[in-house]
Formats: sequence, structure tokens, C-alpha cells
Amino acid sequence: MDASAPILLFDSGVGGLSVLAELRRALPQAPVVYAADNGGLPYGTKTEAEVAARVCGLLGRMSERHRPRLICIACNTASTIALGMVRDVLNVPIVGTVPAIKPAAEQTRSGVIGLLGTAATIRQPYVDRLVADFAADKRLLRFAAGELVGAAEAKLRGEAVDPAVYARAAAGLRDQPGGAEIDTVVLACTHFPLVRDELAAAFGPGVTFVDGAAGIARRIVHLTQGQPFQRNRPDFALFTKDEPGLAALQPALASYGLESIELLT
Ligand code: DGL
Repeated sequence: MDASAPILLFDSGVGGLSVLAELRRALPQAPVVYAADNGGLPYGTKTEAEVAARVCGLLGRMSERHRPRLICIACNTASTIALGMVRDVLNVPIVGTVPAIKPAAEQTRSGVIGLLGTAATIRQPYVDRLVADFAADKRLLRFAAGELVGAAEAKLRGEAVDPAVYARAAAGLRDQPGGAEIDTVVLACTHFPLVRDELAAAFGPGVTFVDGAAGIARRIVHLTQGQPFQRNRPDFALFTKDEPGLAALQPALASYGLESIELLT
């Protein structure tokens, strides 16, 4: 094992940084390439075929270029659609991001769980299977809150976001039959923990938010146990498209230890 081989974290945008934060806590010495398909953002409004084709193609190119020891698909939309396909085509361990329905079912006292994800994620059979396996005796209310993806991206660029965006996400769950009893909300999109405080204000007291980031970091620690880590260069972010907003993201990326930006060529 090459000690400088990175862990590649992949998302459509900045959402995977919520996973990177947990990975840093667990494995501070691990070299990381943070890859964002900003040219394909948002995934949540795309078809399954479009997401699968982009994710498989890009991860193939990125792994040829950067030879990662492990790939983490730090995106619920991409994982719930394409995890199996990516595992079939790439000969490298792949860790996916699964909506944290199991821990939510263990935590809820009211028995009513809310799930916020992208439109593409909340319709996946993968989510139905998680509900059947871990939350069959609970009530799960789903809401497609794709608008929060843009809100998280804007927040990290230092832009002001209209709080009505968060109010609409909360209302999307609260206004469903049984919604008033929700005490646990699954953040089933990696962008959403980046706006957790804003969502907490919109939901009001008595709601716990659950996401998968810490579990993913534990899984990566387990799969890389005993491996040497040596950083030969500072960690960096890799984007698929040059656009004006990238410069504004630089301070946020730096706060996650990503010191420069590269473009996938
Ligand atoms: N961060 C991605 C997720 O976890 C989705 C964002 C998007 O719609 O591209 O689902």
C-alpha cells in the first residue's frame, strides 16, 4: 500500500464536506482528495440513468488519475442510485452514504420520523428497503427538499440565504398528516448537515437531527485499519467545471483542510 494514496471523497458539490469533517476527526493523518461534480450539480433533479452514468464515468477517470486507496461516495443521491454499479466496475473499496433511517428508528420516542432528501433519493427502492428492514413499526414521512442543496452551496460561498427556504423544508414535513409528532429528522443528503442550525431554528425545539457522517467515518477507519498514511502534498479539492463561484468557496474549503482547487481534465 502506497502511504500517500488518498481517500477520495465524492459528491456533486460541497455536501461531502459534512462527511469530511467526521473523517478528519477519525483519521486526521489520511491524505484526502475531495471531488465535487459541480458540472453535474444538482443530482437530485436528474434521472437515475443520468446520475449513474455521471458517477460511474467520473469515478473511473478520477481513480485512474489519483489512484485512491478507497472511494467514499459522500452523496446519498449517488449512493442510493449507483453504489452497486460503481462497485461492479471499480477495483477499489467503495463506501456509500445510506440515509440514517436505522439510527433514527432507534432514537425516536414518538414513532414518527421525518426524512429530508433530494427528490431522486426519497423515491429510491433503497429507501423503501431501509424502512422495511429497520423502521417497519415506525411512521416515516418524506419530503424532497432539493432547495436546501442550493442553500448549503450559497452558505459556503458566504452568501446570505433567505430563511424562508428552511421554513419551507420544515413545513414540508410538519404539514403532512402526523407531521406534528415528528421528533427525529433524517438528513438524507450530505448537504443538509451544513445547514443544521438553520433547520433546527425552522423546526423549533424537540427535534433531533440524524445523519450518516460519523458512521461513514467509522466504516472508513475499519476498512483502512493497519494501513500507512503519509501526506506528500496538501489536500485539495477537485472540481469538474470551472465557474466563478469556485473562488468564493476557497475559504470554506480551506477550513476543511483543502488548500487548493484543481479542475478535472
Ligand atoms: N449531496 C447530495 C446528496 O447527498 C445531493 C445534492 C444534489 O442534489 O446534487 O444527495
